[in-house]
Amino acid sequence: MNTGPDGSPGPLRDAEAVVLVGGQGMRLRPLTLSAPKPMLPTAGVPFLSHLLARIRESGIRHVVLGTSYKSEVFAEHFGDGSAFGLDLEYVVEDRPLDTAGAIRNVAHLLRAEDVLVFNGDILSGLDLRSLVETHRRAAAEVTLHLVKVDDPRQFGCVPTDAEGRVTAFLEKTEDPPVDQINAGCYVFRRPVIERIPAGRRVSVERETFPGLLAGGARLQGHVDSSYWLDMGTPAAYVRGSADLVRGSLPSAALPGAPGESLLLAEARVAPDAVVDGGSTIGAGAEVATGARISGSMLFDGARVGADSVVRDCVLGAGARIGAGVVLRGAVIGDGAVIGDECELLDGARVWPGVEIPAGGVRFSADRR
Ligand code: GTP
Repeated sequence: MNTGPDGSPGPLRDAEAVVLVGGQGMRLRPLTLSAPKPMLPTAGVPFLSHLLARIRESGIRHVVLGTSYKSEVFAEHFGDGSAFGLDLEYVVEDRPLDTAGAIRNVAHLLRAEDVLVFNGDILSGLDLRSLVETHRRAAAEVTLHLVKVDDPRQFGCVPTDAEGRVTAFLEKTEDPPVDQINAGCYVFRRPVIERIPAGRRVSVERETFPGLLAGGARLQGHVDSSYWLDMGTPAAYVRGSADLVRGSLPSAALPGAPGESLLLAEARVAPDAVVDGGSTIGAGAEVATGARISGSMLFDGARVGADSVVRDCVLGAGARIGAGVVLRGAVIGDGAVIGDECELLDGARVWPGVEIPAGGVRFSADRR
């Protein structure tokens, strides 16, 4: 790696990247019924565009996508990567191989000594060059991006010693000894990838990393406190998109200037409607008079009727929301219809094409 004039790490021209994009995204259903999670619209472009833009900014050019669920849509959108300044290749798993299995499955396309591996559903402001610098300084087999979280009970945690060396991978517990968790981004020395068993399901967290530790390998932690979000749940997904729209996490892939809202081509918003909180109004989508949209995403062609209030929601492509509707923390599937005066609150999910009649019906549980 080169060094910049101020001593900062230079571009990563001699590293490669693997992005894992083969998961089914169950927690984001029904949105992931029609598109894999990394392809869901996020601040106006597929989520993966933001990650690829960051990889490109680091200086890396060669990126391999490990695909499984709905594999074809990635190549349809990103092609050979040249339009994005990248050299992109794809590997399709016949059946899902889990995270480490997916990394092993792309090994034949890798040439670099240091390989950055990304979960394809993480938004982060991590400086990739400093991650690689930590890896090289420690002469580690694998370096893991770690983040500190307020409530580590919902995650497995990853303690490190005074030199930053990983000492254990601990399962979820009610009383975790540290607040550091695996942030889903790693640097692997390439020979480590080649030693992962081929052709079967292997998990990095449950098998590969604990096995390396047990064998005495050096696993280094790189704790970083910049922006980090796992966008695997609907609430995190809408928040991540809003943060990108508002510029809380700058992204070169944002199709416009940061602000309170992002309106895509042919979006129509009535003059007295309010759209804020980092909302995105998709191509051809409509917001009628008196409506208020906050911190939400309207996919292409979605329509919101007069005086409706939509907060922290995702409205799928072509969804139709009537007049006087209140939606909060809801996910409305593609083409679903919500009648006038309905109220759908926290966690409500409406499956694609479902029609809920007018009449002030109130739902706060899943409805398929
Ligand atoms: P949930 O079903 O909602 O948990 O989401 P998910 O399927 O994406 O699983 P998870 O969030 O644990 O996956 C972490 C990352 O690994 C995501 O970027 C997934 O796309 C990816 N991933 C998970 N399993 C596989 C797999 O079997 N093959 C490949 N290629 N990628 C995977």
